[in-house]
Amino acid sequence: MKVTIIGSGYVGLTTGVALAYIDHQVTLLDIDQQKIERLANGEIPIYEPGLKELLEDAKKNISFISSWDSFDPTTDVVIIAVGTPMRENGDADLSFVEAVAKSIGQRLISEKQPIIVNKSTVPIGSAAYVKSIIEQQCKKRGLQIDINVGSNPEFLREGVALVDTFYPDRIVIGADNKMTANQLQQLYSTILHQEYKPHDSLPKPKDYTESVLHITNTTSAEMIKYAANSFLAMKISFINEFANLAEKVGADIQEVAKGIGLDKRIGSKFLHAGIGWGGSCFPKDVLAISLTAEQYGFEMSMLKSTIEINNRQREWVIKKLQETLQTIRGKTIGILGLSFKPNTDDLRNAPSIDIIHKLIELGATVKVYDQIAMINFKNQYPALPLEYAEQVEDVFEEAHAVALLTEWKEFQKLDFEKTSSKMKRKIMIDGRNAFNSDAFKKAGYTYVGVGR
Ligand code: UGA
Repeated sequence: MKVTIIGSGYVGLTTGVALAYIDHQVTLLDIDQQKIERLANGEIPIYEPGLKELLEDAKKNISFISSWDSFDPTTDVVIIAVGTPMRENGDADLSFVEAVAKSIGQRLISEKQPIIVNKSTVPIGSAAYVKSIIEQQCKKRGLQIDINVGSNPEFLREGVALVDTFYPDRIVIGADNKMTANQLQQLYSTILHQEYKPHDSLPKPKDYTESVLHITNTTSAEMIKYAANSFLAMKISFINEFANLAEKVGADIQEVAKGIGLDKRIGSKFLHAGIGWGGSCFPKDVLAISLTAEQYGFEMSMLKSTIEINNRQREWVIKKLQETLQTIRGKTIGILGLSFKPNTDDLRNAPSIDIIHKLIELGATVKVYDQIAMINFKNQYPALPLEYAEQVEDVFEEAHAVALLTEWKEFQKLDFEKTSSKMKRKIMIDGRNAFNSDAFKKAGYTYVGVGR
């Protein structure tokens, strides 16, 4: 099929390259000319493992354009994957989606129209909204056409976005008529039936069977996205709430998580206690859907608590540092990891931002290390008086305590016995329960994990 994707962020780019790999003819449109030039040269402007290699092998099926003048109105499908950032009041800012819908409406022709798909996370009702904008634009040019707009939410996790694309648990298609549903089903048919040769860098996971296709109307599909992210965020806040109690009563939250996760109705995933969730999706989506409920006159109190628990959880690191060091002023604190989770350079809503600001406010000297996200951090917070460590070991130099905020695999390889000799006091605050506490105890550290 001929597919045009609008927006080359995480979602648009990953989807575009994947669809090109399974032999669709993809055009990726982004008005950021610089980004498009880099992509056309095979460069990937974001950090996403495997994407560069996949683009290399899919490049015959993908082209990059930066102007709406090159938009092909006869394409089969247009996927809208532009950003929907959060407004100050928590609402989704739809201005990019609106601009795209307008641009599409100004270019469609009477002979053939593509199916338009919202892939960005958009408020409930957005399929109808996009349809109305496009149709209005067509009408202005004397074209009375009925446009089909579907919803196809993405469930990609940053850092493993390609694995999630090629081996999804489910594909959700929201369509308000059969034709739209059929076209979108066809778009994903190769992935649904696993009828492609997996890329060398993306072997099929051993336990993967097959994706479930869930077809529903656009409104339900739009809600599925919010409900899924809210549920996952709630699951994490739930285990963190229990972690706090576990610390009081002397239980080990990891044992508790294992014990409940073995119940298939609960499941073991997303029960990892730590300093809470961040990123570009959970915070934005949980808040946005709560606001939608408010517009309908009720409060989603479960989601309100989910957010509150998460905000509180970030204070855990500070609390533990105060408990172990008492005064933070004048102390040197090493920070391992800055991104909101491993395998990404994304800092959006990362717990590290709040924690580091608080440490500085409390008068600490802060040394940080993150092999990928450090450059972004430096660019985004140039005024913060931080020491950026050149090597991970430097974080331990003269430190009174080191706190792990992002569980990069690389940190597991550290020789903590060796690093301890550089420290003023041997304290490890493991904000992600990433380490085996025994190794630290053996090396003479005071080890503090979450809910352990
Ligand atoms: C999330 C969802 O997992 C995707 O399915 C969804 O498509 C995406 O949002 C989106 O809406 O675009 P992502 O934000 O990339 O993906 O990150 P996750 O892997 O879900 O992690 C979110 C946060 O939860 C991270 O800060 C992570 O550290 C934290 N987390 C995760 C925990 O604290 N404990 C856990 O057990 C799992």
